[in-house]
Amino acid sequence: MTRCRICLGPVREFVDLGRQPRSDAFLPPGEADAHPEAEFFFRLAAGACADCGMAQLTEPVPAEAMFHRDYPYRTSQSARMSEHFARTARRLAAEVRDRPDPFVVEVGCNDGGILPTLARAGVRHLGVDPSGRAAAEAAGRGARVLTAFFGPESAAEVRAAEGPADLVYSANTVSHVPDLASVFAGADLLLARDGRMVFEDPYLGDILARTAFDQIIDEHVYLFTVGAVRQAARRYGFELVDVEPLDVHGGQLRFTVARPGRYRVSSAVKRTLRVEGLGLAALDGFAARVEHVRDELVALLRTLREQGRRVVGYGATAKSATVTNYCGIGPDLLPFVCDSTPAKQGLVTPGTHIPVRPPAAFADPYPDFALLFAWNHAEEIMAKERAFRAAGGRWIRYVPGVRVV
Ligand code: TMP
Ligand code: ZN
Repeated sequence: MTRCRICLGPVREFVDLGRQPRSDAFLPPGEADAHPEAEFFFRLAAGACADCGMAQLTEPVPAEAMFHRDYPYRTSQSARMSEHFARTARRLAAEVRDRPDPFVVEVGCNDGGILPTLARAGVRHLGVDPSGRAAAEAAGRGARVLTAFFGPESAAEVRAAEGPADLVYSANTVSHVPDLASVFAGADLLLARDGRMVFEDPYLGDILARTAFDQIIDEHVYLFTVGAVRQAARRYGFELVDVEPLDVHGGQLRFTVARPGRYRVSSAVKRTLRVEGLGLAALDGFAARVEHVRDELVALLRTLREQGRRVVGYGATAKSATVTNYCGIGPDLLPFVCDSTPAKQGLVTPGTHIPVRPPAAFADPYPDFALLFAWNHAEEIMAKERAFRAAGGRWIRYVPGVRVV
């Protein structure tokens, strides 16, 4: 039996997505055939701790294998997310404005996050990110960055050099760190006495409500709930003082933690906890709903192939690795996936080896159908690709269920 990474309690598995590769391990086209044994696979399954409630992968991949120098994901690829981070930066800067020479640290800043906006506003800041190339791009946008994993060691180094931080902010990173205790230990070392850590990550409540099984990927070691984060924070010497639902990446929560007793606990924490208790009952039927989506999606793709329709993928997301590998969707059903990230183009998708092409390939000529893997960016992408639909093209969605729009 798997033991909880937070409290060592028993973890009850609720979904098994089978043999999966590293979700960002795109590879050169020839390499997959020449060295099939070199591709790393693991069993992707999630469970929830019977004691503290924390949902987590039962077989997590070491962080060093994921967040290395050449980590290909780039936050800045989405205009909507760039706006989200600029807005967040302005709000956080306003919250610390009254402090003398405020200092804000972003953990996992990728190629910028909130830092370029802070830099332009003249707020003292530092990004900490282990992915060297992404961090260098953040520096190119005017941010100060340290290439490192965030934890007690790097936090102590930053504190010695810069003094205490008023705020530690992190988006889509805290849930990626198997050693969650090290994140809180780092925050404890770095934060001023009344400092706060604000982090936003996928919310299990939204994943269950939307059957968004592709949010389960190697990087998402934890699938947070308010109840589990509140308990974990307490265990690590912090108090959960606020939660805020975010309508980005298909449903996230922004958590704010501080040292106990320093801030009033917002009513949103209690309210969300109450609603959450009911929502978690959906864990029971989740695996069956996921299988249903898989069967419908594969049946649709096979039917379209028989009819001689062209279908391509849109967005070589990390999430799409879960979908294609779990459903067995390869180049025979989907000849290519287009993606705007230069570091992914020209390579093939992990495990399923579907070629990744630049967005220009999408219109050359338009396919009959596009399978929208980047469904969390649907509004932005559909607006950008209006001409596709105008030319008779149709989008295939699979969250919360399979439908053609
Ligand atoms: P994400 O869902 O993890 O944010 O990944 C989104 C992927 O989709 C990323 O590889 C960039 C790609 N993408 C496009 O190709 N075109 C777009 O318009 C957007 C917003 C993202
Ligand atoms: Zn536990």
